[in-house]
Amino acid sequence: MQHSSVSLAGQTVLVTGASGFIGQQLCNRLQIAGAEIHGISRSKQPFCNSLRWWQGDVANLEDMRRILTAVKPDVIFHLASYVSGDRSLKAVLPTLHSNLISTVNLLTLVADLGCRRLVLAGSLEEPELGELAIAASPYAAAKWSASVYARMFHQLYQVPVVGARLFMVYGPAQKDLNKLIPHVTLSLLRGEAPKLSSGQRLVDWIYVSDVVDGLMAAAQTSNIDGENFDFGSSTLTPISTIVDHLNQLIDPSIKPLFGALKNRPMEQVRVADIASAGDRLGWHPQTSLEDGLAQTVAWYDANMN
Ligand SMILES: NC(=O)c1ccc[n+]([C@@H]2O[C@H](COP(=O)([O-])OP(=O)(O)OC[C@H]3O[C@@H](n4cnc5c(N)ncnc54)[C@H](OP(=O)(O)O)[C@@H]3O)[C@@H](O)[C@H]2O)c1
Repeated sequence: MQHSSVSLAGQTVLVTGASGFIGQQLCNRLQIAGAEIHGISRSKQPFCNSLRWWQGDVANLEDMRRILTAVKPDVIFHLASYVSGDRSLKAVLPTLHSNLISTVNLLTLVADLGCRRLVLAGSLEEPELGELAIAASPYAAAKWSASVYARMFHQLYQVPVVGARLFMVYGPAQKDLNKLIPHVTLSLLRGEAPKLSSGQRLVDWIYVSDVVDGLMAAAQTSNIDGENFDFGSSTLTPISTIVDHLNQLIDPSIKPLFGALKNRPMEQVRVADIASAGDRLGWHPQTSLEDGLAQTVAWYDANMN
């Protein structure tokens, strides 16, 4: 059963990770919705008419207390993260700080100071509830632990938290150019053959504006505190198919170098279960892979080529 929703017009909304790939597009949508937007970044950001920037580290409790006390947000979107599938030892502490400590800081402050809704960005890298698994990377361990804390904070302290488990997000303006789609797109646009692993990994891809729709619904829908939603396409597509599409869109004469890189160890195959996002939030992905990739290529061609 779908619940009623609260408009974000005039609401005070705080976005961590507002300078990031998804955060920027969420802030654009919040502006259209008429929210008063506050963004957090570790760096000093240029003045912006539509958003008030706050400088701080989400892993620093006192930075966050200062900002939350001043802003008094109705809604918080926690998107700040060290987003990396890096398996090396050097990824352990940054993922712990920016994914787990940051989330526990926010949960603690919301338990103390209150807000109407805290939306946490989770990840496809987190094992399913009840799945007997070990986390495949430091990032997965931190994201998974953050969700464990979120459930506890909801049960013990009635924190109004909603989990948004995002699958593989792609689209225009993704900043990390090492991610598959920006890497392949920019290589092909430069006339170079992209270097790839085997390309066999199956992934659930989801277009960024669909993710933003899901985050907005997670913030606006009433009576869903403590619930978790998957935002993905519910379809698995191998990396090689994505690369083929990009190849066709940009330059079919270039032959991508599959097998030039090693496959990452312990890659997990997970597909979004979007039934409850459909039932409870009325959310359904709108953008086909073909349209999403065409819009992505058009953006990189116009802005970075
Ligand atoms: N992209 C995907 O495919 C995907 C898939 C699943 C889940 N997610 C989740 O979705 C969220 C957003 O991802 P994204 O792709 O937009 O990431 P992104 O482009 O890397 O942006 C993350 C932002 O987090 C901020 N940040 C990192 N550590 C911080 C800290 N300690 N304190 C304050 N800010 C910090 C950074 O901003 P500053 O450098 O300005 O501080 C950065 O702009 C993340 O939680 C990620 O785990 C993404």
